[in-house]
Amino acid sequence: MIPVANPVVCYNPRMITAQELRHKFLSFFELREHAVIPSASLVPDNDPTTLFITAGMHPLVPYLLGQPHPEGTRLVDVQKCIRTVDIDEVGDRTHLTFFEMLGNWSLGDYFKKEAITWSWEFLTAAEYMGLDKEKLFVTVFEGDADAPRDEESATIWLEVLTQAGVSNPEKRIYYYPKSENWWGPAGITGPCGPDTEIFYYTGNGDPFADDFNDEPANDVSDFVEVWNNVFMQFNKTADASYEPLKKNNVDTGLGLERMLAIFNWIQGELPEPDAYQTELFMPVIRILEEISDHTYQSHTRSMRIIADHVRAGIFMVQDGVTPSNKERGYVLRRLIRRAVRELFKLGLDDTQYSAIMARLVNEQCSNPAYVLQYPELDANRESIVSTIVDEVEKFSKALRKGLREIEKYDSLDGQIAFDLYQTYGFPIEMTQEIAEERGEKVNPARFEDEFARHQNLSREQSGQTFKGGLADHSEAATRYHTATHLLHAALRHVLGDHVHQEGSNITAERLRFDFSHDSALTEDQLQQVEAWINEQIEKDWPVYKEVLPKDEALASGALAFFKEKYPDTVSVYTVGEKNNWVSRELCGGPHVEHTGEIGLIEIFKQKSVSAGVRRVYLRFKN
Ligand code: ALA
Repeated sequence: MIPVANPVVCYNPRMITAQELRHKFLSFFELREHAVIPSASLVPDNDPTTLFITAGMHPLVPYLLGQPHPEGTRLVDVQKCIRTVDIDEVGDRTHLTFFEMLGNWSLGDYFKKEAITWSWEFLTAAEYMGLDKEKLFVTVFEGDADAPRDEESATIWLEVLTQAGVSNPEKRIYYYPKSENWWGPAGITGPCGPDTEIFYYTGNGDPFADDFNDEPANDVSDFVEVWNNVFMQFNKTADASYEPLKKNNVDTGLGLERMLAIFNWIQGELPEPDAYQTELFMPVIRILEEISDHTYQSHTRSMRIIADHVRAGIFMVQDGVTPSNKERGYVLRRLIRRAVRELFKLGLDDTQYSAIMARLVNEQCSNPAYVLQYPELDANRESIVSTIVDEVEKFSKALRKGLREIEKYDSLDGQIAFDLYQTYGFPIEMTQEIAEERGEKVNPARFEDEFARHQNLSREQSGQTFKGGLADHSEAATRYHTATHLLHAALRHVLGDHVHQEGSNITAERLRFDFSHDSALTEDQLQQVEAWINEQIEKDWPVYKEVLPKDEALASGALAFFKEKYPDTVSVYTVGEKNNWVSRELCGGPHVEHTGEIGLIEIFKQKSVSAGVRRVYLRFKN
């Protein structure tokens, strides 16, 4: 559990640190009866639809869909998020790959009035954010054929703003269409609703004469969005109509980095808010300045990319991602490679890349902005450094040769890109990036397959857009989810209690399961595991859920996924009868009600993932 101090009294907004901001947010809502829940892992648990957690609401989807949360109906958290859709945009002042989202949640509890009033109070009260009220502006949903104009939110805002005594309260409320002020659903159906966004004016002129109307959330705009409050009040049905939900939810997201950037800017030393010039990134940027003889001002983009990618890489590795050519591993690989390429742009000695990256990673793992909230980074520093540096080593050689080779060409084409790829393993997207910087285009015709692979990957990533992270809990996914528990139990039954889940992934076609074990399973062991699972399925055991204090759950023999942090109260899913169970695990669900619903399964593949970690694949029979 994240320790929450009494509200930190800080009348001077200049004083705030990342840790104070987190604590202020958590304690503000704790005082309003919200339970503090820990951040979920960046890697979604059994969700085939996304590579990474992209928003605070993402791990809470089952609860937003109606399942009771063990900690109650008011929650607050700081959730780690990764968005890869904008990876190419990193380098400007707003795009970040990794970020922390501060969120308060109502699961069928309070609604617009409380959410809006509290947002305002938190942002403006002297003992919390103490922001200048005159600089705050809001947007609400303008209404369309599907759902009415959100007059309710606008009316509440008008009351709040009028009571606060700000000038021109009615002129501070802007109406926007679905593209701006609506959230979800990701799929065809699901909960969704209007949102209201809060902006802080960072220009020097008259905010009422500024460009808010044209470009509210634009990067070049003087208005910076700090907080989004989503009011989930509709269910989009299969015939594309919007019916009111029985229970309304509130889902909010306040960007930690943006808020800190604003505070920094309020200090008056910077021309504009800049997340990179905060304690979150400065230790890394200072090292880059020191070793490169360049300044942040002269090499802003390169330094930002390195700082962003190093930070995101560290958090990914901590949550179990390792560089590879697939899915999450590929995203991580790309981040590390791009960071290395920027080291090259800074003119750093290419024999030193590993040492430099080791220093940057070390520094960031013990950055005071993170040590209290994520002590695991510092504790696991050595293994994080070694995972990242291994990848740097591999890549440096290819990069060195490829980049030198590229310099020799006046213009780049598909043939050259292909040759560089074949000869040095020089990444195609990097040749493309270099070509684009030179104002050229590389024709991908020569390596269609390779491009198709890359394009698939980026499509996969861009599917993970921020808006609409509601996952599809299909029936197959639910059946596989319960099969995951049986597989875990079966492996322990056949191989021994040293077996622990290391990770899992479900698609509509199969379940992939990683676990700790030293050697390949023999044919006989595989058969025993499969037979044991099918036996439990045929017995049609009941599957039931209990909500228990964490310690009690663990003491009763329930398995926990050790990489996860759990709240003090947890859900436990048991397969079997109360005093005769076959599996018991801490888990958020959802699950089938009887094992018979799973249908018979088969294990169709196994392999090694890394030293001491094996992987098996399981699918439905026939
Ligand atoms: N889910 C909303 C967002 O991420 C709060 O902006």
